[in-house]
Amino acid sequence: RDAELLGSAVAERKRRAAAVIEDVERSLATPTALLRSIADAMVTEMERGLRGDIHAQLKMLISYVDNLPTGDEHGLFYALDLGGTNFRVLRVQLGGREKRVVKQQYEEVSIPPHLMVGTSMELFDFIAAALAKFVDTEGEDFHLPEGRQRELGFTFSFPVNQTSISSGTLIKWTKGFSINGAVGEDVVGELSRAMERQGLDMKVTALVNDTVGTLAGGRYMDNDVVAAVILGTGTNAAYVEHANAIPKWTGLLPKSGNMVINTEWGSFKSNKLPLSEYDKAMDFESLNPGEQIYEKMISGMYLGEIVRRILLKLAHDASLFGDVVPSKLEQPFVLRTPDMSAMHHDSSHDLKILGAKLKDIVGVADTSLEVRYITRHICDLVAERGARLAAAGIYSILKKIGRDKVPSNGSKMPRTVIALDGGLYEHYKKFSSCVETTLTDLLGDEASSSVVAKLANDGSGIGAALLAASHSQYAEVD
Ligand code: GLC
Repeated sequence: RDAELLGSAVAERKRRAAAVIEDVERSLATPTALLRSIADAMVTEMERGLRGDIHAQLKMLISYVDNLPTGDEHGLFYALDLGGTNFRVLRVQLGGREKRVVKQQYEEVSIPPHLMVGTSMELFDFIAAALAKFVDTEGEDFHLPEGRQRELGFTFSFPVNQTSISSGTLIKWTKGFSINGAVGEDVVGELSRAMERQGLDMKVTALVNDTVGTLAGGRYMDNDVVAAVILGTGTNAAYVEHANAIPKWTGLLPKSGNMVINTEWGSFKSNKLPLSEYDKAMDFESLNPGEQIYEKMISGMYLGEIVRRILLKLAHDASLFGDVVPSKLEQPFVLRTPDMSAMHHDSSHDLKILGAKLKDIVGVADTSLEVRYITRHICDLVAERGARLAAAGIYSILKKIGRDKVPSNGSKMPRTVIALDGGLYEHYKKFSSCVETTLTDLLGDEASSSVVAKLANDGSGIGAALLAASHSQYAEVD
């Protein structure tokens, strides 16, 4: 009789788990037809953004980059990359067309979490101090001509209203940063004052978004790069637009005829997006509720958290981890995307790695094989939705620039390269391969044979240094 009761309890739990999973599958589904209509909605928002419609969801920020690197850049330049959980400093000796990158060095510093939500002076002082220390280690291999000031490309990966190539004001924070009083301030001014406080004599000659930096770095390596996408802590894309297709641009028509646009696609929002109850709850409790909805469904800062919320639901409704809900699982952001990736990639027959992760993160030692399979399946669903939505975004940019299909006049479609960077894309293999297969699917066989997605590893650092070089105060002299 006891056995019977136990048996029916188990059956009931299984039934409940199956119901939750089915519901998750339904709410995260991204059929190809839906992706196409999302891409169309994104193109519409891009057009609105380019017109300067203040309600446009894609801001389509003008970068003031109207020329991408040519290969002729030379000299010593620094770059500083701020925008994720780490920031990087980099120096590079550029040798012009023949020698290209003669030497480069970089250092990565993790940002103490309290600085991401503190004051802007503290944050910039911390960065400037690390930069000053790095400059002190500049060796003989790097050469700055007599009497010149060191120059820096500043990659600042947040939405900025640029007022020139080397100035701009912060529109809002994203990705877990929330610093009072910084919105509306000139970020280059703040960095420059912090550098002065450190006694560091350096001039910011280019202020760029990471997508713009990646585009510049990507173009330096490959002439056919037309767009860059970041899939990391956050997500965003930049691409080369015809200046005359930007109604809100009131300046002179650039000689090149082009202007790089930072789409800030992370803020895209639409009732077409498959938004689940887990997304809504996460958004509601976030630092920026109602904002960056597309980003919250795709990027590395959030994927693990979505998985955690689904597992928590399964723990509550179907006792996935035993009769008590593990308290560790109640803690927001305990499940990080790299852990999710490790669990998702576990292909051993007993899902040992996954089991060890669950023990670590959730604090439950003996999970059954079935629980492990369920967990992996949830990782798969969340990652797949993110990757497919990202592919729809890339497809929308290709549509915007007319590289989504073979030209109707019968000519060949030009080779079209998208530079991609970010930890999510680089390290989460199942995610990146899903982005690629989905993009191929959306483009169809013929067009997809001309489109290449290429990892531009730390393209944004080099890109910022290259743009610092092409906008150097000594550029005329050289
Ligand atoms: C966020 C930022 C954006 C950045 C992206 C990737 O979406 O708003 O500026 O490019 O993250 O780092």
